[in-house]
Amino acid sequence: MSSLRLAVFVGSHGRGSNLMAIQSAVSAGNLPAEIVCVIGTRADAPAIARAKQAGLPTKIVSPKDRSDAEYADVLLRVLRGANADTIALAGYMRRLPSPVVQSFPNRIVNIHPSLLPAFGGHGMYGEKVHQAVIDTGVKVSGCTVHFVDEEFDTGPIISQKVVPVEDDDTAQTLAARILPYEHAAFPEALALLASGRLRVEGRRVRRV
Ligand code: GAR
Repeated sequence: MSSLRLAVFVGSHGRGSNLMAIQSAVSAGNLPAEIVCVIGTRADAPAIARAKQAGLPTKIVSPKDRSDAEYADVLLRVLRGANADTIALAGYMRRLPSPVVQSFPNRIVNIHPSLLPAFGGHGMYGEKVHQAVIDTGVKVSGCTVHFVDEEFDTGPIISQKVVPVEDDDTAQTLAARILPYEHAAFPEALALLASGRLRVEGRRVRRV
């Protein structure tokens, strides 16, 4: 078991509830980690405000007016400056630049609010995911924690939690039912990573 030095990426509109769930697990002693940096794209993001309130170090790196290569360079500088060894994407909706993904092999973890590979991919985030689930008529949804590769939502799956879809669900009610499962799943998966018990074999992640 080693303690993670965790950089958490948050989205420009994210509430930061998964960030807070990770921080709570750390404080409760359920996740051997230190959040060494919270990285956002916009200073006015609610998640950044919550991070600051919690006394976590924050950094804003905007992809705007930067080429992909420049964005990657700045991110890597920030990550190295914080001495991060693991990255958690908590509501970050962009594709991480390739040099960042390649610098942290099997050390970047994302949470997605559906049972991947269903209802994932480019443009599938937040309520759009839940609306697509409802429109498709599936009876179960949930959340997935997975390693991040260079595509959207396609990396090896660490864990999933299944949540029923009710007949009268809206995107909002379904999102609200799934969210507490996300808050449990994300710290649990990170704790497994910290334990050194995860082995990635092709597309499969085994617990050893
Ligand atoms: C979460 O529901 C997360 O699963 C989703 O964004 C929300 C962020 O909420 N992520 C995606 O849709 C990624 N494709 P939060 O800011 O309260 O953690």
